[in-house]
Amino acid sequence: MTEPLNIGIIGLGVMGQRMLARLATHQRLRAAWVWDANPAAVAQTLAAYPQLQAAASAEQLIATPGLHSLYIATPPAAHMSLSHLAFDAGLAVFCEKPLTVDFPAAQEAIARIAREKQRAAVDFSLASAPGLGALQLAFGAASRLPLGPLSSVELEVAFAAWPRPWQAGAGAWLAEREEGGFTREVLSHFVFVLQRVLGHAEVLDSQVDYPADGRSAETALNARLEAAGVPIRIAARVASDVPVPDHNRMLWRASEGEVELREWFGVTQQRRSEGWQPLGSSDALRASSQADQLDQWVALIEGRSHSLPGYAEALAVQQTIEALLTTR
Ligand SMILES: NC(=O)c1ccc[n+]([C@@H]2O[C@H](COP(=O)([O-])OP(=O)(O)OC[C@H]3O[C@@H](n4cnc5c(N)ncnc54)[C@H](O)[C@@H]3O)[C@@H](O)[C@H]2O)c1
Repeated sequence: MTEPLNIGIIGLGVMGQRMLARLATHQRLRAAWVWDANPAAVAQTLAAYPQLQAAASAEQLIATPGLHSLYIATPPAAHMSLSHLAFDAGLAVFCEKPLTVDFPAAQEAIARIAREKQRAAVDFSLASAPGLGALQLAFGAASRLPLGPLSSVELEVAFAAWPRPWQAGAGAWLAEREEGGFTREVLSHFVFVLQRVLGHAEVLDSQVDYPADGRSAETALNARLEAAGVPIRIAARVASDVPVPDHNRMLWRASEGEVELREWFGVTQQRRSEGWQPLGSSDALRASSQADQLDQWVALIEGRSHSLPGYAEALAVQQTIEALLTTR
């Protein structure tokens, strides 16, 4: 039998719990050690997963013999320092997005990864989505353009409330503009898709609405960008009249047809004369994407090629995201 790969998890909030549940379904990856700065989160996790071992600190977890990889699911502020600790120990790192808003720190980590051949990737869940594959086939660098040249991309995102109900238990950081907000949390996934298919996206203008309290995250963002000569529009808002908790739709229009991503993992495609063809519902494609992502993580740990975004790709996404938040 192939040996299990032991994972250490730091950060046991909403994402840490989701990853624990997903790891429990995987044949090779095995959650082994956990730590969180909040002792209550550790106690709740051990009650739900008694087979896990709790470390006394991040340093102790990372130094545990037999560990293969570290999953970092803390808020962004700790991502870089924890990455370096894991690199010191020679662990493969799978880090939650956003990578960081500290760009010099990210560049230092990227230089170290290249210099020392460290293994590191960032969790953009759409990296393993069939929708991204459909977009690469239709419009990527190696595409024969079966739908004709791309003419525009439109991204529409809306929330009935921010944070969304499933993240209501997250820390205050998520609702605050310093580290949180839907632009970093949600738009980043779609900017990742955009840039993986088309390369760097230039922000031409961006209008961001913030509450008057000086602290809370954005409530609306409308922007124009350009990538590979293609115009891109983003319209995003939080409003009580939005009928669903979390709506998103990304429409890629070309001369002979369109590809539409909808509600995260759903994807449909049409050639103008033939009508829309669903390539899969969001729920079915989510399950296959998440399974593939864990297999890609195994490849990262084993030093094989994989499709997970590296730190440089994640930094490029974050640079576009921060430009969206600051450009007028
Ligand atoms: N990939 C995705 O689809 C996705 C979805 C949601 C959130 N995220 C990202 O996951 C990360 C975590 O988000 P969340 O919603 O789980 O947040 P959360 O607030 O629910 O949980 C964060 C946990 O980290 C702990 N923590 C904070 N600082 C720490 C430190 N220095 N060391 C150890 N533990 C620390 C907190 O006590 C808390 O338990 C964020 O970067 C977020 O943007 C990614």
